[in-house]
Amino acid sequence: MSLTIAIDGPAASGKGTIARALAERLGYRYLDTGLLYRAVGRRTLQGMAPLDAAEALTAAEVADADALRAPDVAQAASRVAAMPEVRAALVDFQRAFARRMGGAVLDGRDIGTVICPDADVKLFVTASDAVRAERRFKELSGKGHSVTLAEVAADLAERDRRDAARATAPLTAAPDAVRMDTSTMSIETAVETALAVVGDAL
Ligand code: C5P
Repeated sequence: MSLTIAIDGPAASGKGTIARALAERLGYRYLDTGLLYRAVGRRTLQGMAPLDAAEALTAAEVADADALRAPDVAQAASRVAAMPEVRAALVDFQRAFARRMGGAVLDGRDIGTVICPDADVKLFVTASDAVRAERRFKELSGKGHSVTLAEVAADLAERDRRDAARATAPLTAAPDAVRMDTSTMSIETAVETALAVVGDAL
């Protein structure tokens, strides 16, 4: 049986790592939906109107993951993600991805609530603010971005606030999501915990 797995949570909670590992272990397709918003955000930094960018989005832009990881792109992503018309323009692509044969894992902020409310498995992944800031700081400095821990913490707090406060598809756990706090978990433990939840649905 092939499942649709929805994984939501705030930035640097570990949801992407868990989603990728689940997809690999289960042989499912994986979509990091944050990259869609990041690609739109990046275009707006280059002067394009948000809705035009969302409607013209190409696979090549979304695949340019390294450029999309930059902190200014993350902020631009969360600004365009608050616009209902931008979100609406990206819904069909995400739902079509989830529906294709063979099982899918999607991660983001609104997968279990809006994109795939009927997903077979829903996880809501969190971690403490300090742990998330530390993780993202290591990731960004490892990729050569010159950032401080304080800047990263402020960036995450600002995005979390904007993502949770917006009127359309705010960051929130679906009522039927299983919650996981990865603050003190190793990656292995987090993946095993998620796999156990998936196992219950199989
Ligand atoms: O997941 P990531 O941090 O890459 O997402 C970047 C931004 O895109 C988030 O801060 C959020 O504003 C937005 N986003 C969203 N809905 C999703 C995925 C990402 O609003 N499903």
